[in-house]
Order: sequence, then structure tokens, then C-alpha cells
Amino acid sequence: MAGALLPPLTDPYHRKITYLRVSVTDRCDFRCVYCMSEDMNFLPRGEILSLEELDRVCGVFIASGVRKLRLTGGEPLVRRNVMTLIRKLGQYRADGRLDDLTLTTNGGRLVKYADALYACGLRRINVSLDTLDAAQFRMLTRWGSLDQVLAGIMAARAAGLQIKINCVALKGVNDGEFDRLVAWCGDKGFDLVFIEVMSMGAMANGARVDQYLPLSTVRERLARRWTLSETDYRTSGPARYWVVGETGCRVGFIAPTTENFCKSCTRVRLTCTGLLYTCLGHEDAVDLRTPLRASEANHRLIEAIAQAISRKSKGHDFVAGRDDVVPASPRHMNVTGG
Ligand code: 5AD
Ligand code: SF4
Repeated sequence: MAGALLPPLTDPYHRKITYLRVSVTDRCDFRCVYCMSEDMNFLPRGEILSLEELDRVCGVFIASGVRKLRLTGGEPLVRRNVMTLIRKLGQYRADGRLDDLTLTTNGGRLVKYADALYACGLRRINVSLDTLDAAQFRMLTRWGSLDQVLAGIMAARAAGLQIKINCVALKGVNDGEFDRLVAWCGDKGFDLVFIEVMSMGAMANGARVDQYLPLSTVRERLARRWTLSETDYRTSGPARYWVVGETGCRVGFIAPTTENFCKSCTRVRLTCTGLLYTCLGHEDAVDLRTPLRASEANHRLIEAIAQAISRKSKGHDFVAGRDDVVPASPRHMNVTGG
């Protein structure tokens, strides 16, 4: 694959696909209440793409013009030997064929992996952190330890990685802590991104509607305490950013249910089972595992990818507040990738 150039991927709305998010596992060592049930059933290993298959798919996407790659899960760092994949992908970055290789992690294993990630060419990572309160953290993640995650974040910073904190805003859960999170991130030099809770998968307790907190409210509340100036700073992700005058750090907001962010979407997602989703809000997916396994040559895979992109939809249709009736997406976040 190396070196070969394929036609760039452009969807029917003339959006160039340059950003691939890859879920490398559905497993996780946490059980966040908004993401998983405590007794999750994970997928049989045979259904999961092997590390070699993941490398092959990524190689085809990179040859087709993808410039940014994000590994997600589940928790990517719980996948056995995941560093061998990351090392290979890091090679694309070293060769100048990727601009950015990054990872979304729960931070639980960063103490162990931070230096290796930097050595593989990663320069930025996203760490999920919804609360700075140890008891609350335990309640939200069920199995996670705040101390371990904070130590991981500090290890990542010491290794030279830029850190962005992702915080899912949950009404009645962490909404008393937003100022503290802004202050803490400001102190450490981290950008902070608030994410609106989405209904993903069938939830056991139906609590989603109660916990839904529009980010417009979060922003209004933050503005009482902080000087927020809107910026046109964008990453290739969907967040919109404000600069906090007091800290100089950015606060971002990802609000799929209240703001339309589809127009400039250049992203596609690959699940750990090899399904390619071209939009988070649509069920339409193309199976890449079958063509991957059917042949060692890539032509079928290339064809399947082109087909998927030609069907990328114009936008999504999450409906906030109605997710108790029909989940907007029955997929679990840990399979699709957060
Ligand atoms: N709604 C919003 N964000 C979610 N995440 C997981 N489940 C949900 C959900 N239901 C987030 C995690 C993490 C990223 C991987 O996805 O908090 O930041
Ligand atoms: Fe694991 Fe992330 Fe899901 Fe939490 S949100 S259970 S850390 S995959």
C-alpha cells in the first residue's frame, strides 16, 4: 500500500474526507454510566478487526487523502498490543502522509503509555474527565480512579503531549463543577471541551432526558464568571471555541443536538468491527470487514469505501429530549467510537 495514491474521497456535497476516526476496541476498563451498562457484553474477538486489518484500512484511507487519524474505543489503550498499530501509524506521520495522529482516552493507562505515545509521533491527545471530585468520578465511571487518571494526565503533559479535556455535561451530576474545571484546565494549560450528552444505545435507567443539559446553558453559566470571547479557531472536529480571558485557555462546545455542525463535516468513522459510518446520526454503514477478509489485495476494500462516501448524508437528525422514546442512535458509543 505504501506510496500508492488513490483518488481523493469527496462526498456528494463536495466535502473532502480528510479525517478518519477509528474505534480499535469496544472494550473499556471503565463503565461510564452514560456510555455502558455495568454488565456489558463485548463482541467476540473474531468480529473485531485485527491490528493488521486496522493498519490496512488506515493505509487505504491515508492513500485516499485522509490527513488526520484519531483512535478511539472503547478505551484504545486496553487493546492488547495496540502500540504496534500506533507505531505503524506513527510512521505515516513521520513520512508526512498524516498531519495528525491522535487518540481519545479515559486516561487510566497514560502513566504507562504516555512516553511511548510521544515516541510514536503523537503530539496531542484528548482525555475524558467529567469531574474533579473523586467520589463523583467513581460514581460516573463506576470502575475508574480519579487519582490514576490525574496522574496519567500529568504523565502525558510531562511527556510533551498537548492535552484537551473532554467533559460530558450532565444536569444534576457535574453541573456544579464547570467553573472548577475551567479553572483547573486554565491552571494546567489544557483546552476544555464540553460535550452534550447523546443518547447512545439502550440505557438501563432511562435517565437520559433528566441528564440532558443544553450547552447553550453551560456557556451562559460560564459567562457569569469568566470572560469568554468567541474565536474562529477550529480543529477538524466539530467543536466551537471561546477563549477564557482569565486563563488564556480555550473552552469548546460540541453540541450535536442543538447546533448544526454538519456543513463542514470532513469526518468518517470506522467501528472496531469494520463498519464505516459516514455520519454519527445515521444508521447507514458500509461493511469493510468482508472486503478486507475476502482478499489480500485492496481493490474490494477501496471500492467499498468509495461506495460509502458516495452515500454520506448531508446532515444528522438527533432529537433532543425525545430520546426516552426512541434512541436517536441505537449504537453504543464504545463500538462506534466517541
Ligand atoms: N454522550 C456524549 N458523549 C459520550 N461519550 C461516551 N458516551 C457518550 C454519550 N452518551 C464520550 C466520552 C468521551 C468520548 C469517548 O465520548 O465521555 O469523552
Ligand atoms: Fe470507557 Fe469512554 Fe465509555 Fe467511559 S465513556 S466507559 S471511558 S469508552
